[in-house]
Amino acid sequence: MSGKVVAILGATGVVGAQMMQCLEERNFPVSRLVPLASERSVGRKVQFCGEDHAVQLASPQAFNNVDIVLGAAGDQQASELLPQAAVQGAVCVDNSHAFRLYDDVPLVIPEINAADIANHPRNIIANPNCATIIGLVPTWPLHQAAGIKRMIVSTYQAASGAGMAGLTELVREHKALDEGQAVGSTDPFAYQLAYNLIPQIGGFKDDDYTSEELKMQNEGRKIMHMPELFVSCTCVRVPVMRSHSESITLDFEQDMSPEQAREILSRAPGVKVVDKPNELVYPMPLDTSNQDAIFVGRIRKDLSSPTPSRSLTLWCCGDQIRKGAATNAVQIAEYLL
Ligand SMILES: NC(=O)c1ccc[n+]([C@@H]2O[C@H](COP(=O)([O-])OP(=O)(O)OC[C@H]3O[C@@H](n4cnc5c(N)ncnc54)[C@H](OP(=O)(O)O)[C@@H]3O)[C@@H](O)[C@H]2O)c1
Repeated sequence: MSGKVVAILGATGVVGAQMMQCLEERNFPVSRLVPLASERSVGRKVQFCGEDHAVQLASPQAFNNVDIVLGAAGDQQASELLPQAAVQGAVCVDNSHAFRLYDDVPLVIPEINAADIANHPRNIIANPNCATIIGLVPTWPLHQAAGIKRMIVSTYQAASGAGMAGLTELVREHKALDEGQAVGSTDPFAYQLAYNLIPQIGGFKDDDYTSEELKMQNEGRKIMHMPELFVSCTCVRVPVMRSHSESITLDFEQDMSPEQAREILSRAPGVKVVDKPNELVYPMPLDTSNQDAIFVGRIRKDLSSPTPSRSLTLWCCGDQIRKGAATNAVQIAEYLL
């Protein structure tokens, strides 16, 4: 069979499962699939192209003769295993945070900086954080038209952003509460998420921002090649199963009207404008789940700006397991072909 030998590191997780589905949907030429996970999952079957594949232990030997590794495990497993896959000749596209800010690792959203893919001396290419991808896909074409100076972002991030454990925990909490039981332990969340919001994703860092909030600026600078970009971000976990939402305010160098922004975004790759407020039409996570586009609406002037003709506020939603993770990684792998 022609095609590439593709390993999925973390094939039993939400991102790994979505990667296999994306490979299949996009007819990626896979000659052999190598699903890898921890010892817990060895022998478990995952489905790919209508066939069962037994999960193997993620170990350095598992990457023998592998062409491409799609990384969908945590930072620690990525740090330990991907360099070992890379020295054996596999090109790794990783979803963890482990390599994102390394100078010799490209950090890529293909709609923005596909050209960076070519230079990957470590054989590792990083996929950005999911909220960063969802926010930057619509921001980039507006930046190209009018130059952004500053971004203020609030994210509303789904439970599945915390992986399979987040997804099952939200379902469990609802069930317990519906049955009149106490919620008990809320792991992986710090507090009950059902009927609640949690204004913390990641640990607290400099100036009391969380690690997740700092990614929007630090990863955004690298992806858009804008070392001076300033971003203030607040990340909130919300009791939604899937699809992150973001409220974004952008200050521009030049004038940018809502009409102009709608027109630019209607032509932008990976973006779908859904913006008819008079008809109550705007993006929502339920409508944007299981799709690859970033949906943008509620585009309007920022009335608080001293120069409202150069400042816009918008709302976007995108499936963070697809475009925020798996689809973006498979798109990068397509460039490698
Ligand atoms: N969820 C999202 O929306 C999202 C979006 C963007 C990026 N990401 C990133 O993508 C990665 C995967 O996230 P996820 O949400 O899919 O997590 P997940 O559902 O918890 O899945 C984690 C995967 O890693 C595997 N794993 C855990 N420990 C391992 C070990 N010691 N050796 C080998 N494999 C091991 C798990 O295998 P077992 O089943 O055997 O434990 C599972 O397949 C993370 O780096 C995450 O930050 C996630």
